[in-house]
Amino acid sequence: MQDIKLEFSMATPFADSKILEEMTGKAVKAWQDLQDPQQEADVKGWMQPMAQDGAYYDMMAKADEIRKSADAFVLVGVGGSNQAARAVIKALQRPGTPEIIYAGNTLSAPALQKVLRQLNDKRSIYINVIAKNFETLEPGSHFRVLRKYLERRYTKEGAAQRIILTGTYGSRLEEIAKENGYTFLEFPVPVGGRYSVLTPVGLFPMAVAGIDIPLLLQGALRMKELLQGDDHPAIQYAALRQTLYRQKFDIEVLASFEPQLEYYAKWWVQLFGESEGKEKQGVFPTAVNYSEDLHSLGQYMQDGRRNLMETFLSVGEPDGSVVVEPDPGFGDRFDYLDNMDFLEINRAAEAATIRAHFEGGVPCFRLLLPRLDEFSFGQIFYFFMIACAISGKTAGINPFDQEGVEAYKRSMFRMLGK
Ligand code: PA5
Repeated sequence: MQDIKLEFSMATPFADSKILEEMTGKAVKAWQDLQDPQQEADVKGWMQPMAQDGAYYDMMAKADEIRKSADAFVLVGVGGSNQAARAVIKALQRPGTPEIIYAGNTLSAPALQKVLRQLNDKRSIYINVIAKNFETLEPGSHFRVLRKYLERRYTKEGAAQRIILTGTYGSRLEEIAKENGYTFLEFPVPVGGRYSVLTPVGLFPMAVAGIDIPLLLQGALRMKELLQGDDHPAIQYAALRQTLYRQKFDIEVLASFEPQLEYYAKWWVQLFGESEGKEKQGVFPTAVNYSEDLHSLGQYMQDGRRNLMETFLSVGEPDGSVVVEPDPGFGDRFDYLDNMDFLEINRAAEAATIRAHFEGGVPCFRLLLPRLDEFSFGQIFYFFMIACAISGKTAGINPFDQEGVEAYKRSMFRMLGK
């Protein structure tokens, strides 16, 4: 298996060497603190991907059972509780596996109604409610609606066989599982939602969708092995982006020419946004889906305010190939593409864009994924979680809390009479 590779050559020329030296020192210290088992053990459980032990095999057996018998699997969760699984499933779901339907991530009545309508056409439905503390409104309220729906369709006892809850031991969700005979999976306490991909939170729904979980874990573990010492790419990336931030590059855009990575980008935006945007500072993370967005934000990237840095996710060998068939005499003026594969065309568009943005004053990082498979996903999940934790600590904030999210919740709960 080939490893992902990070290229900095189009970012470093923008960095001020004095600031970079200072930031590198801070990033190294942050990395040392992260590795210190005496510090913050209560929030660093994610640094060790799920072990392949008894709980793992039970989880995989349940996923297997559902994959074989379900038409639809509803993933009920929001934020860190659904983003990672959705990212991989949207990119790699295997044919012949249950349709994965997403709920618990909106308060829109029409959206929930659409989910219920979709379910009406299905024969065998399972739901997986993922909630760390089981207080979040979206998954909690959708669980109520979906539970009642399943009970009407399958009876209370029948529904119990179709409900899987993922929560922390000791939470109300665990009690509910015990009281009602639902399957319960562990959301480890020392793992925050947005860092939970390599726990049952992310792995169980992916397994239902036929994702190769051992390969994904292998990718993550390989990345863990690569990130050793005090000069690895996650430290370099964190130090550079913090340097550029101090030079007023305060927006980072994750860009890809593979639409399969669109939901991965949402995961990435959440990881960095919720981890770093605090104490009135932080790089603002956003994402674009090229080539489509070259025709919208592409203009801004090339020519707007020069406060942007861009991180490209490039796929070396995408799956699939379509060759442009010649059509002599038709006169559509696209004959210069005759016999070219879209793989080649897309690659040319990507190379041209990176070059143009770099020359236009945008520091560009490039992460090369040899293939878009589970191994690469495991690597990029682990890489960015470590990089994000280092970057946040380098900036002097706590990358593991999310007090800002709690503020709106307090006022909303008041309005709803909680
Ligand atoms: O990363 C986080 O901690 C958050 O995004 C949470 O995952 C999100 O708010 C959902 O929380 P919960 O699983 O407790 O419903």
